[in-house]
This record gives sequence, structure tokens and C-alpha cells, in this order.
Amino acid sequence: MILITGGTGLAGSYFLLEFSRKNKNFKALARKNASKQKVLDLFKLYEPERAEEFFQRIEWVEGDLQDIPSLESALEGVSEVYHLAEKVSFDEKKADELYKINVEGTKNLVSLCIDKKINKFCFAGNIAILDPKLDGTKITEEAEWDFKRLHSDYAASKYGAEMEVWRGSQEGLNVVIVNTGIVLGSGNWGQSCGTLYDFARKSIFFPSGTTGYIDVSDMAEICIRLMDSEIANERFILVSENVSYEKVIQTLRNIFKQKNARPISDFWLKKIAFLSRIQPFVPSLSKASVAGLTGKSEYSNEKIKKMLNYEFQPIEKSLEFHAKNYLKQKKFK
Ligand SMILES: NC(=O)c1ccc[n+]([C@@H]2O[C@H](COP(=O)([O-])OP(=O)(O)OC[C@H]3O[C@@H](n4cnc5c(N)ncnc54)[C@H](OP(=O)(O)O)[C@@H]3O)[C@@H](O)[C@H]2O)c1
Repeated sequence: MILITGGTGLAGSYFLLEFSRKNKNFKALARKNASKQKVLDLFKLYEPERAEEFFQRIEWVEGDLQDIPSLESALEGVSEVYHLAEKVSFDEKKADELYKINVEGTKNLVSLCIDKKINKFCFAGNIAILDPKLDGTKITEEAEWDFKRLHSDYAASKYGAEMEVWRGSQEGLNVVIVNTGIVLGSGNWGQSCGTLYDFARKSIFFPSGTTGYIDVSDMAEICIRLMDSEIANERFILVSENVSYEKVIQTLRNIFKQKNARPISDFWLKKIAFLSRIQPFVPSLSKASVAGLTGKSEYSNEKIKKMLNYEFQPIEKSLEFHAKNYLKQKKFK
């Protein structure tokens, strides 16, 4: 039996669909007030005829990463865990909450998995914790967290969470860690990376940076293959392509039949970050976020491609697919 956390999230809802399609034996941890309707809405996009049937296969268990007894009962009868739940925020006032949910929550879950002798644990980590080398070569799984670099509180919390998973592997838990790039998915348009489509539609500017992207279907397929394999105690970068924000925003704006956006200089982004500290009407933007939006990080996906003989979907195709779903569900003309 599989337990998945974060099943109501952008990536987790697609994992639920894949578990249902593959007839896996699984249950999904959900917080008391979590909206399950958005999971059904996503199923309807991919499986208009069989959405209800696939949705009915989900066994929901109530729980919270910060509530140890709820995790303990959710783990009853479970042999595999996919841990996708997290808090994401770039608001500096949310640092404590990020730490409690991402680091302590992961610690709670990992410790219980060790106690309950869970067979295998998949952790959805982030490329944001892999710092570039100074020689400009592509970032690989060997990359380390550089304590001297500026990081967002969110990245720090994902680093802390991953350290808890490695601690679990030292204590006998079989783990696979996927350091994932920006996930392109449908649904959850108002949260996480689902906000990308609103941003591209509304923003007339794009920042200068480049980062790694992956389609949610590739992420789910790879995680399932890793979990069903003998591979353990390794991490993998999950990035289909490294793409500039310019390319992503312009591609989306073309699909939305909007005029091209214009570049915003690094200087102006830094100025906005400074102003947002002293002027409440300026949108909140931290120095670490500016570094992320202007950095040109390139990630290597060679390890996973070789290990699973895997071919990723092209990002352009993925952007087109999700942007069309966005237009369909948001009902813009
Ligand atoms: N999206 C990306 O671009 C991206 C990039 C790299 C890595 N990843 C990784 O992929 C994973 C999934 O990301 P996502 O974008 O799907 O996240 P998401 O859409 O923000 O969803 C987060 C999920 O975590 C749940 N959650 C939050 N706090 C919780 C708590 N205290 N206890 C239990 N559940 C809690 C949420 O439940 P509610 O419905 O109750 O809020 C929701 O199901 C994350 O680990 C993330 O680091 C994502």
C-alpha cells in the first residue's frame, strides 16, 4: 500500500491520477480542510470520460505533517511513501512556518517510516538546493549546498527537509530523492507553479534568468519507475530542459494571443526588492528571489536519462498543453 502526502497539490493530484490509472493500491493524506474538488477537476482534464471512476479509487486519510498521531495512523498498512507535501512561500515573514512544515514535518514522517520499517520512501526535493560551481559547468547531483550563498527561506527549508531524508537513509530507510525543476502542470492555477500562467498573462515584463523545467507527467512517471525499481539511496535531477524566463513567458503570451513582454533589467529588480522593504505598496520581493529570477542556472539530466533510459517531453509542448487547459478552465476567450 502506498501513502502519498501532498495529493491535493499541483504535482500530487497528477500522481493520484497515475496511481488510479495504474490500479495501484494507495491512500492520500489530506489536511482537514483540503479541497479535493481541484483533484477531480484535474482528472476531468486528462480523463473526461472516467474522471469520477478514477477519483473514487482514492482512499483519503485525514492528517497533517505537524500532527504525529495523524501520521502514525495514516501509515497503518503502508509499505511505500511518496512525500510531496510542502509549504511554499517567498514571504520572509513565513520562515517559521516553512521550517515547521517542510523540515520538522519531513522529520516527523521520516522518523515514523523508520519505526514502521517502510520499504521505500520517495522525496520530492528541489533543484533550488543545488548550488552552481564557479566553473560554469552544468549542475549535477554532486552539487552541494553552499552556505556562503544567498538562499531563500524556502530553499533553506527544502535543504533541511532533504537532510532529514538522508538521515533516514542512514538509519535504514530506502530512499529516492528527486531534485525537481519548475513543474509544469494543470489545475491549482492559484497556487504553487500553477500561478505561472496568470503571471505570464498579466505581467508585461520578464526577468533575465534561466532555470530547469519538467512536465508533471514526466515527474510522476519517473518517481513511480524509481520506486518500482531496486534503485535506492540516490538522488536525481528531474529537469527536461533549461529555459530562460523570456522563452517561457513569450511562449505563453503567444498562446494567449498577447503582445510580447519586455525584459526587466537586473538593476530594476534589485531596486524593487529594496523598495519593497521600505514601501508597503511595493510588491514583496526578497534579495534571494531576485537572485533566483536573474541567475542563469543550467542543470544536467544525464543521470536519470541513463539510469532509466528515459526521454523527457519537450517543454514547449508541455507549456502549450497546460496553457490550453488554463484557458479552458479559466474560460478566457
Ligand atoms: N511545483 C513546482 O514547481 C516544484 C518544483 C520543484 C519541486 N517541487 C516539489 O514537488 C512537491 C509538490 O509540489 P507542488 O507544487 O505540487 O506543491 P503544492 O501545489 O504547493 O501542494 C502542496 C501540498 O502539500 C500539502 N500540505 C501543505 N502543508 C501540509 C501539512 N502541514 N500537512 C500535510 N500536507 C500539507 C497541501 O495540502 P492542502 O491542499 O491542504 O494545502 C498540498 O497538497 C513539493 O515537495 C515540491 O518541493 C515542486
